Amino acid sequence: MKNVFEVIKDRRSTRAFKPEQIERADLEQILEAGSWAPSGKGFQGWHFCALHSAEKVGRLAAAIRGALQLPESYCFYGAPTLVIVSYLREHPHAWLDGAAAVQNMLLAAEGLGLGSCWINQLRVCCDDPAVRPLLTELGVPENHLVIACVALGQIAQPTAPKPRAEGVINIVE
Ligand SMILES: Cc1cc2nc3c(=O)[nH]c(=O)nc-3n(C[C@H](O)[C@H](O)[C@H](O)COP(=O)(O)O)c2cc1C
Repeated sequence: MKNVFEVIKDRRSTRAFKPEQIERADLEQILEAGSWAPSGKGFQGWHFCALHSAEKVGRLAAAIRGALQLPESYCFYGAPTLVIVSYLREHPHAWLDGAAAVQNMLLAAEGLGLGSCWINQLRVCCDDPAVRPLLTELGVPENHLVIACVALGQIAQPTAPKPRAEGVINIVE
């Protein structure tokens, strides 16, 4: 197992997944990692709806394509599993807590040797009439907003790292 700094530095956004499904045990570990993220005042107002089915992931991609008029190629890069991270509407820490949970899951995936990608589009269309009924059917609470999705799968094509921005660290002693 890699150490935590290797996991942090090696994680990349995967944008080409293999079609093979990931193990349910790996998915469960990734979801558990999300649930162990910090949250403001320990509120934990999040929900993780995991689609461990390429068919259901495809149905969601089609609904998003319809709502946002995206091309047919929009399919979460072929990921066979997708986690929808949602949070209680209008909670002041929703975006911060949700983002922390997302990052925990991205890192957990890297630790398990899996690819992952933060996916944004459902955030802006989760209340679209073409999308919300499907989210309800899948088990996303109606009093929740979608924070992000996490695409998961085996890596078909590795992503090169981007150079780090300079001048962003200042140590004062
Ligand atoms: C708030 C946020 C939204 C993102 N949305 C998307 C997305 O919709 N699709 C995508 O391919 N990557 C998305 N990303 C991933 C970024 O593009 C990626 O982290 C960045 O290019 C750096 O690459 P790396 O993750 O490989 O280090 C998102 C990342 C963040 C933090």
